[in-house]
Amino acid sequence: MNLGPVGINFAYVVSAALFIFGLKMLSSPATARRGNLLSGLGMLLAICVTLLAAGIAYQWVALGIVIGSAIGLIGAYRIQMTAMPEMVAMFNGLGGLSSLLLAWSEYNQTLHPAAFIALVTVLSVLIGGVTFTGSLVAWAKLSGRMVQKPITFQGQHLVNGALLATALLVTLVFTFSPSPALGYLLFILVLLVALVIGVTSTIAIGGADMPVVISLLNSYSGLAACAAGFVVSNIILIVAGALVGASGIILTRIMCKAMNRSLANVLFYGFSKAKAKDAGDAGPKGEIRPASAEDVFYILEAADSVAFVPGYGLAVAQAQHVVRELGDLLEANGAEVVYAIHPVAGRMPGHMNVLLAEANVSYDQLVEMDDINPRMDSVDVCVVIGANDVVNPAAVHEKGSPIYGMPIIETYRAKTVIVLKRSMSPGFAGIENALFYEENTRMYFGDAKASIQALIAEFKGVGS
Ligand code: TAP
Repeated sequence: MNLGPVGINFAYVVSAALFIFGLKMLSSPATARRGNLLSGLGMLLAICVTLLAAGIAYQWVALGIVIGSAIGLIGAYRIQMTAMPEMVAMFNGLGGLSSLLLAWSEYNQTLHPAAFIALVTVLSVLIGGVTFTGSLVAWAKLSGRMVQKPITFQGQHLVNGALLATALLVTLVFTFSPSPALGYLLFILVLLVALVIGVTSTIAIGGADMPVVISLLNSYSGLAACAAGFVVSNIILIVAGALVGASGIILTRIMCKAMNRSLANVLFYGFSKAKAKDAGDAGPKGEIRPASAEDVFYILEAADSVAFVPGYGLAVAQAQHVVRELGDLLEANGAEVVYAIHPVAGRMPGHMNVLLAEANVSYDQLVEMDDINPRMDSVDVCVVIGANDVVNPAAVHEKGSPIYGMPIIETYRAKTVIVLKRSMSPGFAGIENALFYEENTRMYFGDAKASIQALIAEFKGVGS
């Protein structure tokens, strides 16, 4: 089918509009699913139009689509929610690899491109290569195939700096390289250095910081695609790549801000373990007040307003369905029930939203940190479910704490706080939590799912 340049560009504009509206809709849980669908439609349109306009060997494309779709479908169905970040890491890596291969294949056809095309070609390879191996390391760390703790060696920053400087220098020389033979050598050199940088820069980051790294690598994969779009002169690839690049970096910034850490701190230093240890040593001491299922039941039964505050433990326990069931029982009992979501609760952006959506918790009941905090004093009971750092008052009160300045859900201001966790172990930041020792706090120990099931049994009158 001959669409002509006007038809093609018109279709691309429609695709770009669908991407942008889709992205906008992703910013609210209520519209996120439709936003995802809309962006997917935009991509489908872009792919169809590009294929129709290309006049290429469709049997290979069809084979690729069938194999890729089968892997994607099976992977998406089988993946556990807690393993979602590693799947995203893998997708990012493959995105980077695609841009790298596309640029390489184009380069093979020309071998001596004009300076601008040479530059975008080698940038696709450089960024795509770093994204590919960096994402593989992120995937391996998150899936436990590699040690999670930072792997460091003396002079690591120096080595990474030298590698990057080499890659940039070779990029420059390649761009203006006078001969195809030298050009190919330089091209392969950048490719190899990029693959090495991806590994050496990511191994130094701890597994728990990987979501931030994945978001950054996502941004890189977009930039690689954008550069590849220039290589093949495809407008929609440039637009889509730029959108991914920009949204990835915005998300990275949001995550860092919500943890009160700079990107440099995440990438080069991690949480100061010494600082965390010091804070732990000088941390809160005092009496904790354990509570049984029956005690908690009586507190909840008398409450007019209840705020659930989920954290990483909710994902570990897979307690989302029972939480909703308990929420429904509390509402039936006359309480106002909300779910207060911290932006970095869990281990990936939107982690809690996704889990609660899976359990069909109504979007109206989700409240953001900035909405719940001003009215926290009037909340009767805050039920903290497997959250720790995101409710740690040290972030507000202790200047020396590694998490000082991180915005938290201020549960300690509620009339009563019930904390569901298995032990007194710290959360991701590795520091003690004064909330657990507050007078208005009751510790309800156990696996969150089993603990909530016991509460549901109490509500249904079948508790012991
Ligand atoms: P954490 O501070 O990691 O605390 C999770 C708590 O869940 C632990 O104290 C653990 O205590 C409890 N837990 C684990 N399994 C449980 C189970 N089966 N039942 C009940 N409790 C269980 O989690 P958070 O409050 O959600 O904070 C997230 C942390 O991750 C923050 O420090 C944040 O900066 C960091 N982080 C987040 C992201 C994103 S994007 N979300 C990215 C990078 C880093 P027990 O072991 O005693 O049960």
